[in-house]
Amino acid sequence: MKGLLFGILVFFILASSYAWSGDIEAGKARYAQNCGNCHGPGGMGLASYPKLKGKEISYLVDKLKTYRAGTRIGPNSDLMIMMAQPLSDVEIANLAAYLNAEK
Ligand code: HEC
Repeated sequence: MKGLLFGILVFFILASSYAWSGDIEAGKARYAQNCGNCHGPGGMGLASYPKLKGKEISYLVDKLKTYRAGTRIGPNSDLMIMMAQPLSDVEIANLAAYLNAEK
């Protein structure tokens, strides 16, 4: 019985830390699907597309949620609004964790 309760406790701790911190590997896979076409390999930035790597997680999450809500930030927000619209909260957390971890 004690073992079961301990298992449940560990499960909830892991599940909540997963939800808060984002999964770097999953973020990397999602980034590779199409973000890199504009933002360059590893979020290094390309021409007029902003550099993303190494930025604060809260900053990245905030920007992606702002775009997802359809709110413009800079002169070329239309592109990003289109890209952010299909993202889930978990995908945003994963992408932010990945980009923050890139050096
Ligand atoms: C079609 C090209 C394109 C694609 C694909 C794209 N972006 Fe962007 N992204 C932009 C442009 C252009 C901006 C600047 C928009 C503006 O002026 O507000 C931007 C801005 C951003 C910003 C805000 C940067 C800052 O410092 O203000 C983040 C974060 C971001 N993109 C993440 C992503 C992620 C994650 C993906 C993949 C889901 C992605 N982008 C796919 C073109 C693109």
